[in-house]
Amino acid sequence: MRRARTKRKSRPRRRTAGARGARAPYSVNANLSKLPPYLFVELDRKKREAIERGVDIINLGIGDPDLPTPALIVDRMAEAIRRPEHHRYPSGKGSGEFRAAVARYMDRKFGVKVDPATEVLALLGSKEGIGHLPLALASPGETVLVPDPGYPPYLSGTVFANAIPRRFVLEERNGFLPDLSELPPRARLLFLNYPNNPTGATATLEFLERAVAWARENGTWLAYDVAYVQAYYDGRRPPSVLQIAGAKDVSIEFHSFSKTYQMTGWRVAWACGNAKAIAALAQVKDNVDSGVFTAIQEAAAWGLDHGDAEEETMRRIQGARRRLFSEGLRSLGWGVFESSATFYLWCRPPKGTPSDVAVARLLEEAGIVATPGHGFGAGGKGYVRFALTQPENRLKEALARMAKVAW
Ligand code: MLT
Repeated sequence: MRRARTKRKSRPRRRTAGARGARAPYSVNANLSKLPPYLFVELDRKKREAIERGVDIINLGIGDPDLPTPALIVDRMAEAIRRPEHHRYPSGKGSGEFRAAVARYMDRKFGVKVDPATEVLALLGSKEGIGHLPLALASPGETVLVPDPGYPPYLSGTVFANAIPRRFVLEERNGFLPDLSELPPRARLLFLNYPNNPTGATATLEFLERAVAWARENGTWLAYDVAYVQAYYDGRRPPSVLQIAGAKDVSIEFHSFSKTYQMTGWRVAWACGNAKAIAALAQVKDNVDSGVFTAIQEAAAWGLDHGDAEEETMRRIQGARRRLFSEGLRSLGWGVFESSATFYLWCRPPKGTPSDVAVARLLEEAGIVATPGHGFGAGGKGYVRFALTQPENRLKEALARMAKVAW
């Protein structure tokens, strides 16, 4: 005879450490352990330790311009900050004035038409927009293609969205452009970034045409990061992906004020492109931030409309630094990747010295902070990145100190 089943009072199960799925109380998001310490936080820590030891540091680590924000933007800000209507919550997607200025700028610089109402979004820096993009476009478990070496937030944003990062290696022999035929098909999202951080490589319109075609064939969103698009030194402005016919069907592009107008501390940028992708990113942001301070938007918009001469000044200064430092490095036996954009030099240390050894010796023996290539992913192994964010006299001093390091 079968006994009738009685419902047993359930006793709370004891969780044992190591049991499958069990998590210690007060543990933190397990995704965090998938990420290395954030590259520039780590570099900053090492720099501070050296400064505390009394070392006269020459910081060529993070790409944080030493030049001030142009006066025309600062002056506009000084006026804008006094207007009480700016002291309230900003419009999440950006003020009408800001988005209209972006649309004018995209047209004037790239011949690209974007609808300020639906195809432009203000960001708290392009890092923020990039970091949130996978949450907006990729569902958990979907694949996101991340360049290696590459700017760290492509990877961390993907991990936070519980999407699966697949890294593809950028190789010097291909000019640090990906071989599109080798990318896994039908990923949800592909990140590309030219002018490229960390390598300084640029992409041609012809390459972008192929990238857009690839994205269309594979049903993959293309996120194109052009934070350094105005930092070019050969007289030829690198293209926007939106110049490619049909790109707007599949692409969202990230622009920044940080490097064009030396505004890293202001936290302002924009995304433009596909209206559906813009709306999705805006939806994520509406839930986690409250937009860019309207006074900052006003000053930034003013810069877009009136800052051409200031952009030119930045290029003249950075171009001269680039020539000086790359010639100096070559004369000291460093291999320097030939490039004409960004303010980074991507280099191989003398005599095959591994990049971590080279970076440690630069700090210890020359008081120079540089970024180890592998900090941008395993594909950066063997390289060191120098950010030319110091005046020429300090760059000369850095070269003089480096000449004394025996490799
Ligand atoms: C860099 O050094 O790679 C950049 O300055 C970092 C950033 O833009 O967030």
